[in-house]
Formats: sequence, structure tokens, C-alpha cells
Amino acid sequence: MRIITAIAEMQAVAREFRSSGTLGLVPTMGALHSGHLSLIDAAKRDCAHVVASIFVNPLQFGPNEDFSRYPRTFDADCAALTSAGIDVLFAPSAETLTPAGATTFVEVAGISDRLDGASRPGHFRGVATIVAKLFHIVAPHRAYFGQKDAAQLAVLRAMVRDLNFSVEIVACPIVREPDGLALSSRNRYLAPEQRSRATILRGALDAAADLHARGERSSHALTATMRGVFAAEPSVIVEYAAVVDPGTLLPLADTTGGALIAVAAHLGETRLIDNHLIGADHA
Ligand code: PAF
Repeated sequence: MRIITAIAEMQAVAREFRSSGTLGLVPTMGALHSGHLSLIDAAKRDCAHVVASIFVNPLQFGPNEDFSRYPRTFDADCAALTSAGIDVLFAPSAETLTPAGATTFVEVAGISDRLDGASRPGHFRGVATIVAKLFHIVAPHRAYFGQKDAAQLAVLRAMVRDLNFSVEIVACPIVREPDGLALSSRNRYLAPEQRSRATILRGALDAAADLHARGERSSHALTATMRGVFAAEPSVIVEYAAVVDPGTLLPLADTTGGALIAVAAHLGETRLIDNHLIGADHA
């Protein structure tokens, strides 16, 4: 695997790749787990060439968030990417990708203030800005993101549409631990007792999805069910338990046309998210 840190070199290699087949990009912040590796597998299935990126993006962390303690496991990440068969890792420094004096940002208005964006002001501006830069540098035909970050997907799809990027955004299914916890680089922050409580996010989503499967279509009822599940574990602080349109992230009154049910909760200092897509039905 070739590790590239300079923008001009990445542009030149990406140009070469594009001239000889489909180019896929898997953007990450490192601390790779099987969820990331599933994105790489999907990219490798679809594309002749795959570039992964690792960049812990300072622009997407708020002042009181976990930027400094975010897990950095570069050597283990390189080993995982090498055995996954990645062609190129793009791993620019902060000075290279976010140089002092840069004053241009990408803001996807509206969507960026919903779900996670409501409690993390500026977060999606940071994500959209860095992903736009990666799209310009690598110019992939396809880019792969996890469905776990459903709000991020909605923001990036809107950005691609509004700014006419010629890249296809591919969403890959959530990868879970055997007990249902969605994989996340932040799971490693959890103390053992928090880890066992963390399955409540999936429990709340399952309860709402079951209710929907039994014919309930009221978002209010689904939300009340999720809140009821969380109420059994008062040490888990719910940030949102929402039923929204997966494209706009706006609340839906009912789930007849399909919906994204999404939760965010805090276990001590650690904030976890999870979601479930309910398909459109014609019942
Ligand atoms: O999902 C992530 O890891 C990050 O938000 C991304 C897309 C790599 C942008 O920094």
C-alpha cells in the first residue's frame, strides 16, 4: 500500500487511476474497525482502484468535544488497510488539509442543524468542507460512507446535489457487535458497565421497528416507545429519539412513506448514535 501525504501527489495518482477504471474513495478518521472495513470491501467489489483516507478533521469537532482524545491508531490502521488490499492511503497532515488562513467553508444550510447538527453546531460544516476537499483532490467516481452516520449521509448527498459533484455517494449497512451495538470508533471509550448499557440504543430502535411492523404508523407512538425503553436506564441520557425523513431530516408525522428512526444518547462522556431505516409501505 502506498501512503501519500501531499495533495499534488494524490491528485496525480488519482488521475492515473481514473484513466484506467472506476475509482472509489473511502474517507475515514482512522481508528478503523470492521464497519470501515465493510466500506472498503464494498468499494473493492465496485471499483478497479480504491483510495482510503485517514484524517482526524479538526473542523468537525466542537470546542468541548473529543478532538484531542479521539483514538489515533495509525500503525494498526495501516496494517488493516494493507490486508484489506487498499491501493493507496491518503493521510495528509492537518497543516496540509486545513492550512492556517483558509477561510472557505461548505455549509449545507438547514439539514446541518438537524439531528446531530442540533447539538453539534458547526459539525456538519466541518464534515462537508473536508469531504468537499477530498472529493476535489481525489475526484472519485464513488465514495463510501456508513449508514450509521445517517445525518452525515443526508448532508453529503445534499452537498453533492447542490454543488454538482460528479460522485456517487454509496451508503453501506451498519455493522454491529453480536449483541447489537453499532460499531463506532467511540465505543472504545466505554467503561465495561457503560458498554453493557450501550445496547439500549439498538433496543429502543428495535422496539420502534417492531411497533411499525405490527402496523403502527404514528411517529408520536414510535417516539414514545423509544423514550419508554430509555426510561428503564436513567444513567443513559437521551439526546434525541426521532422519526424523520431520511433525505431532509425533518420530523415526519407518520411512517407510511418510509422513515429514518434515529437515536443519540450519552453514556457518561461518550455520545453514541444509531438508526434504522423503515421502508416505504403501501398498506
Ligand atoms: O465519518 C467520518 O469518519 C468523518 O465524518 C468523515 C466522513 C471522514 C469526514 O471527516
